[in-house]
Amino acid sequence: MASRQQNERARLQAFVDRFRAKASKARQAQSRVKMLERMVPVSIATEAPPPAFDFPAPASLRPPLLTLDNAAVGYAPGKPVLRHLDFRLDPDDRVALLGANGNGKSTLAKLIAGRLEPLSGHAIRAPRLTCGFFAQHQIEDLDPEGTPFDHLARLMPTAHPEAVRARLARFGLGVDKVFVKARDLSGGEKARLTLALATREAPHLLILDEPTNHLDIEAREALAEALNEFPGAVVLISHDWHLVEMVADRLWLVAEGTARPFQGDLEEYRRLLLAGRTDPSDARDGNGEGRRGGRRAAAARRRDAEPLRRRLRDAEALVAALGKELATLEKDLADPQTYGSERARVTELLHRQTDLRGRLASAESDWLIASEALDAAG
Ligand SMILES: Nc1ncnc2c1ncn2[C@@H]1O[C@H](COP(=O)(O)OP(=O)(O)O)[C@@H](O)[C@H]1O
Ligand SMILES: [Mg+2]
Repeated sequence: MASRQQNERARLQAFVDRFRAKASKARQAQSRVKMLERMVPVSIATEAPPPAFDFPAPASLRPPLLTLDNAAVGYAPGKPVLRHLDFRLDPDDRVALLGANGNGKSTLAKLIAGRLEPLSGHAIRAPRLTCGFFAQHQIEDLDPEGTPFDHLARLMPTAHPEAVRARLARFGLGVDKVFVKARDLSGGEKARLTLALATREAPHLLILDEPTNHLDIEAREALAEALNEFPGAVVLISHDWHLVEMVADRLWLVAEGTARPFQGDLEEYRRLLLAGRTDPSDARDGNGEGRRGGRRAAAARRRDAEPLRRRLRDAEALVAALGKELATLEKDLADPQTYGSERARVTELLHRQTDLRGRLASAESDWLIASEALDAAG
């Protein structure tokens, strides 16, 4: 986390330096320099330790885990959502599926998990392949009256109660949470319980479909760490760029009724999104720019840049607000009296600090990308 923030700052610094070099942009550069200065205190504070996740390790399988051969998938014969899928998944692959909502990411995840069979073509799975599946709705499907112990014990009917509790503890659900009804657990605790349930069979392949929507920052960090420890393959769908960045080493773009490797990194994908390309797979190097010309084109460019400008202003306001909140909180944390008070209060402050820092880092990074996109458009 700290090094990521340093990276962001190094990028921002380079950006500011570039702008300083251009006299016409001196004013923008000034505001960016101020912004950079505001960011500096952020990277000093201490880290709160996240709860640990510990996935059971799967037995090894011979690669590939899964091969899709010209597969089509969908919900009704003759109406595929995705076609021409050629995909191979090996035991240590870490793939993130990118693409706009409704493009078919979840549908592809279900095909990979074996919850949907191909409408045509082939999906060949390694014998004895086991998949863990984590989706948003599974959190909502928890029995509100059931405790973590109840939920896991139901799936491990022959296990000793101690083994059930030990497994829960490995997901950060200790003695104080094991017998709390699901309806009284926090969002992060419910998510951890769902992950414990999804991985109880030591899957070779873990598929996560929007896993972080209900996770607090602390649980998100822990999840990212755990996924790095996870010895099996991972297929991840997430709008949490930080998680994608930490976990994935291959990107697949789901768009235009198919899925294919994305030729670029996450930063590039984000930039394309922010530049208003609904489908980044359509991105061409701007030779359209050259053909346009004259005053009308300039006016059109200004008009096009308006949403970006708004985005930049919003990001800037958010950075300022979060920065202020964080400064106040860190003043509290720096006050020796705080540590004389209840431990729970200190813990809460540290959690809020981690949360704020995460949100600030992503607001800063949105701001940076909007700036760059705006420059590219201008
Ligand atoms: N259970 C379902 N039955 C029929 N159509 C569905 C079902 N689930 C999703 N779809 C359709 O499949 C398409 C892709 O959806 P989905 O895979 O959920 O996209 P994403 O996860 O990328 O948002 C959408 O047009 C959606 O309406
Ligand atoms: Mg989906």
